[in-house]
This record gives sequence, C-alpha cells and structure tokens, in this order.
Amino acid sequence: MLEIVISSRNPGKIDEIKAFFLSSGKDIRWLTCRDFKNFPEVAEAGSTFFENAKLKAKAVSKFTNKLTLADDSGLAVDCLNKKPGIYSSRYAGKNATDKNNRDKLLKEMGNVKKIEDRSARFICSMVLWDPKKGLIFNTEGICEGKIGTAEKGDKGFGYDPIFIPEGFNRTMAQLDQEEKNKISHRGKALQGFYSFIENF
Ligand code: IMP
Repeated sequence: MLEIVISSRNPGKIDEIKAFFLSSGKDIRWLTCRDFKNFPEVAEAGSTFFENAKLKAKAVSKFTNKLTLADDSGLAVDCLNKKPGIYSSRYAGKNATDKNNRDKLLKEMGNVKKIEDRSARFICSMVLWDPKKGLIFNTEGICEGKIGTAEKGDKGFGYDPIFIPEGFNRTMAQLDQEEKNKISHRGKALQGFYSFIENF
C-alpha cells in the first residue's frame, strides 16, 4: 500500500487530508508526527507559501525517508495588504492560539464596516516530496470569501469561524468537513494532488 507522511502537526489539516481520501477509493496509509519519535520541527523560513511547503516536505522526507506531503496555507486579507499571509499561524505572536489570531484580525478590521470591503482568500500550497527524487508534484488551491464581523460556528480550525466563503451565508466553521473540502483552498489543492496520485 502507498505510504505518505503528512508533514504537519496541525490536527485540523491532518483530518481534512485524511477525510478527503476516505471517499476517493485510493488506498493510502497516512503517517503523521504521531508515528515517529523526534519528528522534525521545521522553521517556516521561506517568503512564500510554496517555499515553506517545500521546506516542510523536504525536511520530513529526509527524516522519514518516505514520500511526504506538505501543505503551507494561510489567509490574505485585501484591506490589510494581504496580511496575515504566510504569518497566519503566528499572527498574534509566536505562541498565539487560533482564537488570539482571530481576535487580532477582527480588531485590525474594526474600522472596515462594509462587507464588500472585507474581502479575503485562503491559499494553500501543497508539495509532494520523494526522498530520492526531491520535488515530484506541487499544486495550489484558493478559496475566495469575506471576513465576518463576529465568530460563528465551531467546526474546522484557525480562521474558519470568521471566514464566509463566496456563495455562502455561513462561515467555514458552520460547514461540515465534507462541505468544506468541496470548496476550500485545501480541498482544491487535494483535488489536484488526487489527479496526480490516482495512477501513482
Ligand atoms: P501553516 O501551518 O503555516 O500552514 O499555518 C496555516 C495557518 O493558516 C493556520 O494555523 C491557520 O491559522 C490558517 N489556515 C490555513 N488553512 C486554514 C483553514 O482551512 N481554515 C482556517 N484557517 C486556516
């Protein structure tokens, strides 16, 4: 069976990746940080989502000697000059919680009253790294939407409770995992990845 390591410590991301493949018919044995001792902590030192995804995939593939999938993702808010971007997970500081990050974002957007001025998008860069060949596949997914003025919903993770995807009047945190995977940045990147891995 095909074995792929997910280079992430984020349980929300790991669940979404596994859930996407549950209904795909492709048998993959997913391995995560829980399956290895001393799983590397990779510094996100790049200046783009793609660079960071490559750094995470390469380091973990080198450590495990296995095919490794990495996702680097985040939120770009137009009225904040595309912030928090690659700093999404540490927007409110190094040890910030998701709630700290959402509170900071809502505060910074406090003066932006009109919903049409609150546009944003989630971006996901996904990389598959082979320990012998290096980068063998990469793809990107984008999900457009608006930032709401208050939190709604308790599903998902990160900025989901304040992100309203285009075409919806609910936040991402009010969608179940299957609905989110159909429209999300990660779900779209996973569709591209699935096309590649289908005949692997
Ligand atoms: P990464 O681990 O550096 O890729 O950090 C991704 C960060 O972007 C997360 O910690 C969240 O703050 C945010 N993010 C990425 N994808 C999502 C999502 O699907 N929903 C909500 N927030 C997300």
